[in-house]
Amino acid sequence: MTNEPTSELLQLWPILIMRRRFPKHEESKGDLLRLVEEYMATNPKSRIASENRNLYESEYGIIPKYYDQNTGLKNLTDFFVESFREISTAANVTAWHDKGLDTDKFAVKITASWFINYLDGGNVEPHDHGNSSWSCSYYLQLGDTKDAKDGGTYLLSPLKQKSHDLGDLYIENTRFDTRAEEGFTLFFPSFLLHGSYPHRGADPRIIFSCNAEVVG
Ligand SMILES: [Fe+2]
Repeated sequence: MTNEPTSELLQLWPILIMRRRFPKHEESKGDLLRLVEEYMATNPKSRIASENRNLYESEYGIIPKYYDQNTGLKNLTDFFVESFREISTAANVTAWHDKGLDTDKFAVKITASWFINYLDGGNVEPHDHGNSSWSCSYYLQLGDTKDAKDGGTYLLSPLKQKSHDLGDLYIENTRFDTRAEEGFTLFFPSFLLHGSYPHRGADPRIIFSCNAEVVG
């Protein structure tokens, strides 16, 4: 007789999403807005990308370029790194354990970092991020709007639903609308397709994003 269970439930390939408030949002906002203003003044042309509509996007090396000279960006980067560490640990707890890895030696490395300044009607079409395992979007400034979806990030399911009965109701929604709230950051796996709803309003909406990888 063995004590092996006669039934077990496994949950494979979990997709973890985290919404988290940046604790130093209020004290860092001025520094970050100044960075955006000065960057756009010296780099008047937006980066061009096929998924972008009516917005300004910076180049992808914002953090290494300005980390040492902008306290707000330093605070934000430290928050990103700590949060990436937590969400990647939660997602990999079994995988890292099974391989016997020494997680104390793991480090989170930012591989790309940028900001987007949405103009009236600006949005980003569905896309995913390369060269990283985790990504995030931080809502620095939302602008004045009465539309709950304004500029918010939506996530698209990687699952293909075949049935429409009650047995797989839990995967019925192929799109999940996250709530954009100033001072909050959305962390998600880089492979997940996502986009943003159009921003409506004269005040620009500004987000900071970055990609990260975990290295041993
Ligand atoms: Fe994105």
